[in-house]
Amino acid sequence: MNKYGVRYPGPESAGRRSKLSGPELLCQIKEMVQIVTLTPDMEPFSALPWASQLPPRQITADIGPFKTCAVVSSAGSLKNSGLGKEIDAHDAVIRFNAAPTTGFEKDVGSKTTLRLINSQVMASEDHHFLSSSLYSAGILVSWDPGPYSSDLREWFNKTDYPIFKQYQRYRRLHRQQPFYILHPRMEWQLWQRIQDNMVETIQKNPPSSGLLGTVLMMSLCEVVHVYEFLPSRRKTELCHYYQRFSDAACTLGAYHPLLYEKNLVKRMNKGSDRDIYTHGKVTLPGFTTFNC
Ligand code: C5P
Repeated sequence: MNKYGVRYPGPESAGRRSKLSGPELLCQIKEMVQIVTLTPDMEPFSALPWASQLPPRQITADIGPFKTCAVVSSAGSLKNSGLGKEIDAHDAVIRFNAAPTTGFEKDVGSKTTLRLINSQVMASEDHHFLSSSLYSAGILVSWDPGPYSSDLREWFNKTDYPIFKQYQRYRRLHRQQPFYILHPRMEWQLWQRIQDNMVETIQKNPPSSGLLGTVLMMSLCEVVHVYEFLPSRRKTELCHYYQRFSDAACTLGAYHPLLYEKNLVKRMNKGSDRDIYTHGKVTLPGFTTFNC
């Protein structure tokens, strides 16, 4: 399966296969993964009338910097965690896709500063993306698996789901809400960091929303706490805290190289193993707080 035309030339550090330390990995990600969002001046969008709906500035120029941030995975293990208050105490909170807060405040909190959504959620009839109030809180950021080449024209002509059509429709209905689209290059730069640091061959598909959102927050915040991405003692086959559906693949990955993403995050964790065990909590430093 190589739907996106991945051409992996082998590790950047050719010949060197020793395992990088946590700080070395953090530096690689800081230096080699660029957070870029689409702006109206980028081709081929610049020639299209709706390009003016895109935010004129980069997300990193518009938002933050925040001191403390929480990344809330949607894992079933958040259920009965009682983490709501701790999560809400952060300056900014990112949630993913269709993850609700209403009715789940005790475990996941109620603050939503950003919501990262994939194009599948934007397009699927089940999620009522255009009309549901779930998406109206906070800043929206969307993504769709682009080609490995990260060529915007190629992507525009062949998205996985109709991200641009849905973006335009949403913007017409909710003009005031900030709404960014990630440049697909970021997905693949991050994918390369994962593959370069694994001995095994990983899935040739982009990383999960959870990891994309974590790296986005590392560029906006001084400290990032990620909840239940690395599962705690509450680990369960329940896919999401908000749905009665079980599948271990939600936690370990099938389409996404999720197991490898988690391995990488574990290696970068500055917090204790106890924090993972009890809170499913990982501590990552923001990119501005360390030099490479
Ligand atoms: O399923 P969904 O992509 O909406 O979930 C948001 C993110 O939370 C995932 O992209 C993944 O990174 C993380 N997640 C997880 N374990 C689960 C469910 C979600 O790590 N069981």
